Amino acid sequence: MIRMVKIFLSSSLCFYLLFGVSQSVLAAKVTLDSSSWGLEEGKACVDCHAKSSSGLTHQWKNSAHAQANVNCLDCHQAYEDDADSMEHEGSIIATIVSPKDCGRCHETELKQQQGSVHTKAVDIIKNRMPALAEHFGSLSINDAGCAKCHGSEVKVKGDGTLDSTTWPNSGIGRINPDGSKGSCSACHGRHQFSKAQAREPAACTFCHSGPDSPDKAVYETSKHGMMYEAHKSEMNMGSDSWVAGKDYSAAPTCVSCHMGAAGKMKSTHDVGMRDSWNLNEGVSTQQYLVIFEDGEKRELSTSDPVPRRGESINKMDGSMGKVKAVAFPKRRRGAMTKVCLECHSKNFAKNAMLQFDNVVELYNEKYGKPAQAIMQALYSENLLTPLPFDEPLEITYWKLWHSGGTRARHGAAMASPSNTWEGMAEVGSLFYGKFLTQVREVAGAEKAEKLIKQHINGSEHHEWLNNPNKANPILGYGKGSTNEN
Ligand code: HEC
Ligand code: HEC
Ligand code: HEC
Ligand code: HEC
Ligand code: HEC
Ligand code: HEC
Ligand code: HEC
Ligand code: HEC
Repeated sequence: MIRMVKIFLSSSLCFYLLFGVSQSVLAAKVTLDSSSWGLEEGKACVDCHAKSSSGLTHQWKNSAHAQANVNCLDCHQAYEDDADSMEHEGSIIATIVSPKDCGRCHETELKQQQGSVHTKAVDIIKNRMPALAEHFGSLSINDAGCAKCHGSEVKVKGDGTLDSTTWPNSGIGRINPDGSKGSCSACHGRHQFSKAQAREPAACTFCHSGPDSPDKAVYETSKHGMMYEAHKSEMNMGSDSWVAGKDYSAAPTCVSCHMGAAGKMKSTHDVGMRDSWNLNEGVSTQQYLVIFEDGEKRELSTSDPVPRRGESINKMDGSMGKVKAVAFPKRRRGAMTKVCLECHSKNFAKNAMLQFDNVVELYNEKYGKPAQAIMQALYSENLLTPLPFDEPLEITYWKLWHSGGTRARHGAAMASPSNTWEGMAEVGSLFYGKFLTQVREVAGAEKAEKLIKQHINGSEHHEWLNNPNKANPILGYGKGSTNEN
C-alpha cells in the first residue's frame, strides 16, 4: 500500500518534472550572458570565409545568430587539449560544434536532448542488430547508410582533423570527440540554425522514412499530411511562439505531436517523451520512462518491476544510476493526447487512440507473440543456428515484424489507413504464405505441427484455418456462403 502511494506521488510529481507544464509556454531563453560572445578574433573568420566559402558565410549572415552578434568563433572555439582542436589562422578551433558547445548558450534544449532516445541511436545498432549492418551490408554501408541517420562515433586523427570514414556525419546519436551525443544540426540545418526549418516534416523525414521508420509515407497519407500540404502557408512556421491551436491550427506536423507546445504544456527536445509503446520490436509493450538524477533516461517494459524514486538501477550503458522520476505509459499518452485536444474533442481523440491500441494488440496477439515463441523454440532446440540472418526463416521473421509489422503499427499510430492495411497485409501474407512453410522445413512436419498447434491452434485469430464455416464477424459470411476470395 505504502509502495502504491509512493508510485502515485512520483508519477504525479514527474508530470511537472517531465512534461514541463507551467504557466508560461515560452521556452527558456539563451543561458549565457551576451557579453560573453561576439569574440573580437571571430570577425576575421567572417571576412576571409566570405571569400573562401561564401555560401556558408551567407547562411550565417541570414541567421538569428548573426543578428544576435554570435560569430564563427563563438561556436567553433576550442581549447588546446580538446581532442579535435587545431590551430587555424591564429586561433584554436574545432570543426565539430557539439551539443555541449551549443549548450553553453542553450542549456534547456541540451538537457532535454541529452538522455533522449535520439542520443541512443548509435547504441541501438550495437545492442540490437549489429548483424544487420554487417551481414546485409558492410562497413561502407554503415558509414554511408546507417550512420548517416543513427550517427557515427567520430574519430580524430593526430593533427586534430577528422577521420573520413566517420565524418562528415550529422546523425542523430553521433558520438562526439568531447563525449557528448547527437548533433543539433541533424534537424537545424547549418548555418542558419532556424527553428522554422526544423518544424517542417522534412526535418524529420530525412531519417524517418524507409523500413526502420516509415513515417514519411505514413504522414503523407494521413489526413494531417493532406491538410498540411494544402495549408502550408497558414502554418505560421517562423513565429517565436508556436503553440498548437493558438499560433496555428490547419494541421499538426511531426513536431506538433512529438515535441511541440500545446495549451500549457511546453515544447520539448526529448522526442520520445510522449510515446507509450515501443512500436519497433517483435512484440510491442507499453513502456515506463525512467529518469535518472544525472539526466540519463531509460525505457522499461511494463512487464518489468517499477523502480522507486531514489532506487539504484542499471542505466542503458550498464552503469548504475539513481532514479529521479518515472513516467508511466498513461502519463506519456496523456501528454500526447493534450496536443490532439487543441484541435479535436476528447471523445474523438480517445477513440482514435483506442483504434490505434487495438491494431497493436491485434498485431501482438495474432502474429507477434506466436511468431516470436516459435522462433524461440527453434533456437532453444538448436534447429536454428544462433547466427542471425543465415537462414531464410530468420529473414522472413525479420521482414514480418520489422517491415510489415512496423508499417502497420506506425500507420495506426498516426492515422494512415493505407499504411495500416498495407503493413498488416504484408505481415499476414508472410505469416501464412512463408513463415509457417519455412517453420515446417526447419523443424520437420511432426515437430512443426506440434509447435503450430501449441501457439496458433486454439487462438480465435487463426480459427478460420481450421473452422472455415464459422461465421466471420467482419464480413458476416460463413456456412453456406459463396465467397470466392
Ligand atoms: C585568411 C583566411 C581565413 C581565416 C581568417 C579563417 N579561415 Fe577558416 N578556412 C579558410 C580556408 C581557405 C579553409 C578551407 C581549407 C581547406 O579547404 O582545407 C578554412 C577552413 C575552415 C574550417 C573547416 C576545417 C575542416 O576540417 O573542414 C573551419 C571550421 C573554419 N575554417 C573556421 C574558421 C574560423 C572559426 C575562423 C576564425 C577564427 C576562421 N576559419 C578563419 C580560411 C580562413
Ligand atoms: C551556431 C554555431 C555556429 C556558428 C555561429 C558557425 N558555425 Fe560553422 N559549424 C557549426 C556546426 C554545428 C557545424 C557542423 C559540424 C559538425 O558536424 O558538428 C559547422 C561546420 C562548419 C564548417 C565545416 C562544414 C562544411 O560544410 O564545410 C565550416 C567550414 C564552418 N562551420 C565555418 C564557419 C564559419 C566561417 C562561420 C562564420 C561565418 C561559422 N562556421 C559559424 C556551427 C556554427
Ligand atoms: C534513413 C535513415 C536510417 C537508415 C539509413 C537506417 N536507420 Fe535504423 N532507424 C532509423 C530510425 C528513424 C529508427 C527509429 C524507428 C522508430 O523508433 O520508430 C531506426 C531504428 C533502428 C533500430 C531499432 C529498431 C528497429 O527498427 O530495428 C535498429 C536496430 C536499426 N535502426 C539499425 C539500423 C542499421 C543496422 C542500419 C543500416 C544497415 C540502419 N538502421 C539504417 C533510421 C535509419
Ligand atoms: C529532432 C530535431 C531537433 C534536434 C536534434 C534539435 N532541435 Fe532544436 N528545435 C527543433 C524544433 C522542431 C524546434 C522548434 C520547436 C517548437 O517551436 O516547438 C527547435 C527549436 C530550438 C531553439 C529555439 C527555441 C525557442 O524557443 O526559440 C533552440 C535554441 C534550439 N532548438 C536549439 C537546439 C540545440 C542546442 C540542439 C542540440 C542540443 C537542438 N536544438 C537539436 C528540432 C530539433
Ligand atoms: C554563444 C552563444 C550561442 C551559441 C554557442 C549557440 N547559440 Fe543559438 N542562439 C544564440 C542567440 C543569442 C540566439 C538568438 C536568440 C533570440 O533571438 O532570442 C540563438 C538562436 C538560436 C536558434 C533560434 C533560431 C531562430 O530561428 O529563431 C536556434 C535554433 C539555435 N540558436 C540553435 C543553436 C545551435 C544548434 C547551436 C550549436 C550548433 C547554437 N545555437 C549555438 C546563442 C548561441
Ligand atoms: C538524423 C536522423 C534523424 C532525424 C533528423 C530525426 N530522427 Fe527521430 N529518430 C532517429 C533514430 C535513428 C531513432 C531511433 C533511436 C533509438 O531508438 O535509439 C529515432 C527515434 C525517434 C522517435 C522514437 C521515440 C521512441 O519512443 O522510441 C521519435 C518519436 C522521433 N525519432 C521523432 C522525430 C521527430 C519528430 C523528428 C523531427 C523533428 C526527428 N525524429 C528527426 C533519427 C532521426
Ligand atoms: C497527430 C499527431 C502525430 C503526428 C502529426 C505525427 N506523429 Fe508520430 N506518433 C504519434 C502517436 C500518437 C504515436 C504513438 C505513440 C505511442 O506509442 O503511444 C506516434 C509514434 C511515432 C513513432 C514511433 C515511436 C515508437 O514508440 O516506436 C515515430 C518514430 C514517430 N511517431 C515519428 C513521427 C514523424 C517522423 C512524424 C512526421 C512525419 C510523425 N511522427 C507525425 C502522433 C503523431
Ligand atoms: C493542429 C490541429 C490538429 C492537431 C493538434 C491534431 N489534429 Fe487530427 N486532424 C486535424 C485536421 C485539420 C484533420 C482533418 C479533418 C477533416 O477530416 O477534415 C484531422 C484529422 C484527424 C483524423 C482523421 C479523421 C477522419 O475523419 O478520418 C484523425 C484520426 C486524427 N486527426 C487524430 C488526431 C490525433 C490522435 C491527434 C493527437 C495525437 C490529432 N489528430 C492532433 C487537425 C489536428
